[in-house]
Amino acid sequence: VNTGRLIIVAYRLPFKVVRDGDVSRLFQNSGGLVSAVLSLVKDQQNQAFDAHQKIQWIGFSENSPDELEGQSMENENFRAHPVFIPDELNENYYEGFCNNLIWPLCHYFPSLARFHDAYFQAYQEAHELFFEKVKEVIRPGDVVWVQDYQLMLLPQMIRQAFPENKIGFFFHIPFPSFEIFRLLPVTWRKAIVNGILGADVVGFHTNDYVEYFLKAARLVSELGNKLHYINLGNRIVKVDSFPISIDFEKFNDAYDEPDVAAARSDARQSLKEKIIFSVDRLDYSKGIIHRLHGYQRFLEQNSDWHEKVSFVMVVVPSRDTIEQYQQMKSDIDQTVGKINADFGTMSWQPIIYQYRSMPYHEMVGMYTASDVALITPVRDGMNLVCKEYVASRKDGRGVLILSEMAGAAAELGEALIINPLDRQDIADAIKTAFEMPEEEQYKRMEAMRERIRDYDVFAWTTDFFTQMTMLELEHDRLR
Ligand code: UDP
Ligand code: G6P
Repeated sequence: VNTGRLIIVAYRLPFKVVRDGDVSRLFQNSGGLVSAVLSLVKDQQNQAFDAHQKIQWIGFSENSPDELEGQSMENENFRAHPVFIPDELNENYYEGFCNNLIWPLCHYFPSLARFHDAYFQAYQEAHELFFEKVKEVIRPGDVVWVQDYQLMLLPQMIRQAFPENKIGFFFHIPFPSFEIFRLLPVTWRKAIVNGILGADVVGFHTNDYVEYFLKAARLVSELGNKLHYINLGNRIVKVDSFPISIDFEKFNDAYDEPDVAAARSDARQSLKEKIIFSVDRLDYSKGIIHRLHGYQRFLEQNSDWHEKVSFVMVVVPSRDTIEQYQQMKSDIDQTVGKINADFGTMSWQPIIYQYRSMPYHEMVGMYTASDVALITPVRDGMNLVCKEYVASRKDGRGVLILSEMAGAAAELGEALIINPLDRQDIADAIKTAFEMPEEEQYKRMEAMRERIRDYDVFAWTTDFFTQMTMLELEHDRLR
């Protein structure tokens, strides 16, 4: 058993402080990364680090130093170490390099990618700020786990200064095929690959992403003679797939929680006979417009379902300072408006659209009230929402319609798998879902539930850290 602590380094801290007059409360940041990594605090069995010591979490603070004045950065599970990034730097780093370049490239939107030298410079400068914080926090024996595309250079920076500490890196979004990756300027792509290879273990969600990364890694290094190992001469790096998951029992148990049950019954009372639900961050990768077009086609072709279906579509505000996201918001507003205007009546609103974040009990209330979860990303590293939907269906009912472009489709073959770009395919799937007998819903749901129960978020982290421990043993043999 390692006696060191676990240090998470991610772009964001898991919470921000929201002040309401004199009272301040913690508000959980949205997204799959925070949801999954937060579950680690319950993982007391982990052998790779001392699970009884608090997890240290280094990340960008959305609050200014003034706002954090007097605020405790520690709870019973973890201690947060805020990194402050000046606005101007953050613009070129987070909005620029991360979300105007890497995010669109990795989600196969090269036409949205913007290449500016100032972006890459800011990416490097921001890394220095995170690295400064790592230097303050790290102790011998600590395991550092760097997260996602905002911090790809960091593993190597830590490796050089602290060669003895174990370092992991996890990439939460799709790693693109080489034809896309090679669009990056040569020095940038080399820096990215070298940066990531500073880790001992590098994780992706699926085998495809692993293969694409291995191909990219050939730019800078010969691969080892064993699949999934990269031999750097003095070190070996393991690259593998670890499909991220959720806390199955938490969502399963939530079904019976009183506030969830109340939200469920409210929804059932106030909505129509069939309920379709979706929730995602506002993002062009989530296929929100495609989903609306599919639903529109369904309404065009199935007038017998008019007045009988409510589509509750919740869009969580995200990255709203970035132009592409603002544009998307107005496209969604328009499309929803058009569908509601074309089909709605005095007694029926086909789409109930909300632009806000959702409290947990309300979200699970909707998961468990709905007949269909309609999840249609045009690209998604994994997609946790679909796993949460399945896990919360303790009643075995409900139909998941899932895009084949989500990493999760590889694990959830019993869903109605659709191509989000094909609106007829979405329309047909909605009809099939509405007509699906309960026994079939149950059979499909149970198969998916078993799989998520077996490979939950704790299995994900255990697997990752086991690979780290094993790598040490394999080092000599492989060298
Ligand atoms: N979620 C959230 N706030 C909300 C609604 C949802 O934090 O208002 C959570 C949701 O429960 C899920 C995560 O955000 O765990 C979304 O993860 P996913 O992998 O589906 O997408 P991402 O946002 O990471 O692209
Ligand atoms: C995805 C990314 C995360 C990111 C999250 C929310 O889950 O993989 O790294 O934190 O989206 O996006 P934001 O830009 O608000 O941090």
